[in-house]
Amino acid sequence: MTADLFSPITMGDIKLANRMVMAPMTRNRADEHNAPHDLNTTYYQQRATAGLIITEASQVSAEGVGYPGTPGIYRDEQVAGWRKITDAVHAGGGHIFIQLWYCGRISHPDLLPDNRTPVAPSAIRPEGEATTLEGMKAFVTPRALEMDEIAGIISQYKHAAAMAKQAGFDGVEVHAANGYLIDQFLRDGSNQRTDQYGGSVENRMRMLNEVLDAVIAVWPSNRVGIRLTPENSFNSMSDSNPLEHFRYFISHLNARNLAYIHILEGDMVSKSINIDYRVLRDGYNGLYMANNGYDKARAEASLSNGDSDFVAFGIPFLANPDLVYRYQHDLPLNDANFDTLYGGAEQGYTDYPILEQTITEPG
Ligand code: PHB
Repeated sequence: MTADLFSPITMGDIKLANRMVMAPMTRNRADEHNAPHDLNTTYYQQRATAGLIITEASQVSAEGVGYPGTPGIYRDEQVAGWRKITDAVHAGGGHIFIQLWYCGRISHPDLLPDNRTPVAPSAIRPEGEATTLEGMKAFVTPRALEMDEIAGIISQYKHAAAMAKQAGFDGVEVHAANGYLIDQFLRDGSNQRTDQYGGSVENRMRMLNEVLDAVIAVWPSNRVGIRLTPENSFNSMSDSNPLEHFRYFISHLNARNLAYIHILEGDMVSKSINIDYRVLRDGYNGLYMANNGYDKARAEASLSNGDSDFVAFGIPFLANPDLVYRYQHDLPLNDANFDTLYGGAEQGYTDYPILEQTITEPG
């Protein structure tokens, strides 16, 4: 076998201790100012043996928010909270990227400054409901962004990227997935613009390219990753030809020398996989991170077939802070408690049992 899950991998100028990545997971446990705090530090510190942690999605501005209790990376107080987290992860030998997020139409006036209407490439209302402080409320029809507003959003990404540097992150992941703003531009079910941001694949990729230009003005490109979801229908998303369109997007990322592309394979909603990800992987000449429902056996098969370079695990890391140790020793896993995924405190967040300590620290 060429590479196993526990072998190191060189990503740009960073050496990751292993090929197990902690996937970004929204946990809604930031404080009332959308800042991370000590409880969040404990959570990430417990998981520092992952080769790389990608944080939960973190909004680049107050306008980018889409849920209560999610952290931001645009104010000094948030930077101070994240700094404790990055220090703790580094002290544990790990590496950590922050995922940069702007929710666009997956938001609600209740969550936005001055109760503004959420924005999107086109005024198409997603099906479903937003999570607000008063409970679930139907999504509203978003306002289509004017051309001259887009530069303001790009500068929010640039500011957030600079704040991420101050907070001590090793890099950033641009969240271009799962039906949030950049993905709303990429896929033709949500982008029906007729200007230079819509229509052709080239135009639909323009917003992403501008975000990448802005972020790469702050970070070396090999410290910037990107997450894509070609066929995830979550958040009311669709595309007329995911394989061909994402083949185009991915081939146009080749020239950027990014840290990696992170692909959520398949559809979270129907739990099916309908396109051949090997085609996308073979069209990319950098590191490919696979994600979505992997366990140890599937991850090892993926690495040994050359289908991926590293694998991001979500729920297994959520429920098993010592997942690397457990996989290494084929130990049983804790089950996740799905009632405590979003919001709350320690329970179902920092209280999952850690075997490593009981085994390596006898007495
Ligand atoms: C969620 O809150 O359910 C969520 C957030 C970000 C994602 C996916 C899901 O990328």
